[in-house]
Amino acid sequence: MSIIAPSLLAANFLKLEDECKMLNESEADWFHLDVMDGRFVPNISFGPMLVEFFRKATTKVCDVHLMIEEPGNFAEQFKNAGADILSVHIEACPHLHRNIQQIKSLGMKAGVAVNPHTPVSALSDILHDINLVCLMSVNPGFGGQKFIPYTLDKIKQLRKMIDEKGLKVQIEIDGGVTVENAASIIAAGADVLVAGNTVFKSADPKATIAELKSL
Ligand code: DX5
Ligand code: ZN
Repeated sequence: MSIIAPSLLAANFLKLEDECKMLNESEADWFHLDVMDGRFVPNISFGPMLVEFFRKATTKVCDVHLMIEEPGNFAEQFKNAGADILSVHIEACPHLHRNIQQIKSLGMKAGVAVNPHTPVSALSDILHDINLVCLMSVNPGFGGQKFIPYTLDKIKQLRKMIDEKGLKVQIEIDGGVTVENAASIIAAGADVLVAGNTVFKSADPKATIAELKSL
């Protein structure tokens, strides 16, 4: 059974309390929180202040996806805000190993996010240090984009790398996940499904989460 991580980026921000209540009552496992700085990605979303509100609104895992440059400058703030998992982009981190050590020393689980053009082989020497790989199946910056089909090959390659090394690293797929394509994503070897628009634009979000969970 997969871990379902709805992305609050697609929520109605005028009704965040209701949206959190809905997720708390649902079979969702994690809250996926997308932080964007307008530099690493061409969009700005929210920062630690909002993560702190989400932390207070749920006991579920807060999975924070940093799409920002120099994430090391903010790791402590996100820890204090209540992040359980902190993912940084490989493309934003020339000293990725140092970033990962910092995240873990602060007591969070460490994730590495990779853009569609980045080969999974780039993770080979960091895999044993991390808890999660966030494989982007769209170009980061916006919700509601179409799943890039080649991601399925990347999931299979990464699954093989992780299994061959005997590691427990989780594979999270982020972007364009739908009720229609989720089964093939899981079959390719994914552990965690992020879903923004598919959940929040659904007529019955709880039922959609349950459906994703049942696949
Ligand atoms: C994109 C974000 C995603 C996004 C997914 O930059 O990292 O988490 O919210 O949204 P959907 O599921 O709508 O593609
Ligand atoms: Zn994300």
